[in-house]
Amino acid sequence: MKIVPGPASRELGEKIAALVGAKTVPVAHKTFPDGEDYLKLARSVQNEHVVIVQTTGLSQNTKLMQLAFMVDAAKRNGANRITAVVPYLAYARQDKMFLEGENISIETVGKMLAASGLDELITVNIHQENTLKSFPFPARSLSAIPVIAEYFIKKNIQKAFALSPDKGALHIAAQAQEVLGGECGHLEKQRDRYNGKTKQTSKNLNVKGKTVIIFDDIISTGGTIVGAAKILHNLGASRVFTACVHALLVDGAEKKILSAGVEEIVGTDSILNNVNKVSLAPLISNELRTI
Ligand code: R5P
Repeated sequence: MKIVPGPASRELGEKIAALVGAKTVPVAHKTFPDGEDYLKLARSVQNEHVVIVQTTGLSQNTKLMQLAFMVDAAKRNGANRITAVVPYLAYARQDKMFLEGENISIETVGKMLAASGLDELITVNIHQENTLKSFPFPARSLSAIPVIAEYFIKKNIQKAFALSPDKGALHIAAQAQEVLGGECGHLEKQRDRYNGKTKQTSKNLNVKGKTVIIFDDIISTGGTIVGAAKILHNLGASRVFTACVHALLVDGAEKKILSAGVEEIVGTDSILNNVNKVSLAPLISNELRTI
């Protein structure tokens, strides 16, 4: 097995290679003056199982194209199996036609990667696991929630209440609860499909005097977490933290969340920024060892 640390996940790819004990294939990368990307595998991949590590966070389109280029390069240069490790898989939230006239973005992504020559895909906490079934190649999603919850245990925050901002993500809160040893629950969230605005409410949630950690797969604009934090403070929670796997943090999300009385935002190296406090390398390398 040879690991290709893509331009979007260089450090993570190298950490994974060190943990797996595999050699890396560096990628020469440049951007032309007009914005087009150029990539070249700098070592041979002939007859190798090639594992390309490339997240597809901001900016999503560029990083997806880079991924497709690397898959194509591996295929054309004789790799015998190509696995993509894509911690954040962009477009996974558009997994159905919510409104007439829409497309299904994540299916287009799957077709594009299959056409480039991809054999299998490993991602982390994809928005909906069912999405993986729509891909024309085997795909699986790992969960980073237990390792994120461990971060809080190491900080001596135990028996915290694990909360998901909507019912669909309750399984995430339940996974965190197993590590934290406290309770878990969820809020209700409705999204207006036309303007994207969300409305959150709580039902039978007893968090008075408790430390609460809001767990989500993605934090984008931070609107969901800010709304949840307001509800928790109104219900008398004593401390509020938030954690997610993919901290996109756009539109000043970090500032908005901290101003809403959230003590700390915890993310992973799926997305590189200053809230990236938990590495996915051990989780992914354990999975690669099983191949
Ligand atoms: C959607 O259901 C996701 O799980 C996240 O809750 C959502 O993407 C977060 O978006 P934002 O931070 O913009 O509220």
